[in-house]
Amino acid sequence: MDLIEAIKSRKSIRGYKPDPVSKEVLKEILEVASRAPSGLNTQPWEFTVIAGDVLEKIKRANVEKFNAGEPDNVGWEVEKYKDKCRERQIALAIQLFKLMGIAREEKEKRTDWERRGFRNFDAPAAIIISVDKEHLPRTQFDIGAISQTIALVALKYGLGTCMHDQGVRYPDVLREFAGIPESKQMIICITIGYPDGDFPANKVESEREPIDNITTWCGI
Ligand SMILES: Cc1cc2nc3c(=O)[nH]c(=O)nc-3n(C[C@H](O)[C@H](O)[C@H](O)COP(=O)(O)O)c2cc1C
Repeated sequence: MDLIEAIKSRKSIRGYKPDPVSKEVLKEILEVASRAPSGLNTQPWEFTVIAGDVLEKIKRANVEKFNAGEPDNVGWEVEKYKDKCRERQIALAIQLFKLMGIAREEKEKRTDWERRGFRNFDAPAAIIISVDKEHLPRTQFDIGAISQTIALVALKYGLGTCMHDQGVRYPDVLREFAGIPESKQMIICITIGYPDGDFPANKVESEREPIDNITTWCGI
């Protein structure tokens, strides 16, 4: 697949086929993606790849906490956007709810949709990326670089991904079931699997701001 085509076709996949992704494929993806750049080549990322029974337990525990209204404990403010960022966030939500046939007043369906994120969108596998807490906040940039690289490499194998906060909002669950130590900050969860072409939200076409609105040209 052409590079530009890959970048343009990558999108967040929130509905997956149940087919498992093999350990070999997941390892190859991580090996290629680990060519991503990092500050001073520190490669601060650590991966926890979760599937099978362990993922099921994590999904169940996440949903239990969500249903109980337990506040998340991710380590930073998750959603406090304003102005243009807030407008874009709302535009995405409108598009997703429309695709899923969820009306504004259908609170229970909206909650169901949110719950889906805590179930890792029913993906067969998830990659948690963590860093040493002592290396924050600078290393968050490196995690962004490797996350996008993983998402792009995954396309080569016919796989879809969704980077999402929801998968790490209850870090204690991951510490308990996947053994991630207290010294590590989980930055992002990337769900990964074969996209379900019939799942309505996978048709999302998130918008992008025209470059001229966000770019200052100097000396060119
Ligand atoms: C740091 C980060 C956190 C995200 N968290 C969530 C999330 O919790 N739930 C979700 O459905 N999508 C989440 N996403 C996916 C974004 O909504 C998505 O990338 C954005 O809408 C652009 O759409 P696209 O990925 O389809 O191009 C997250 C993406 C990033 C980069």
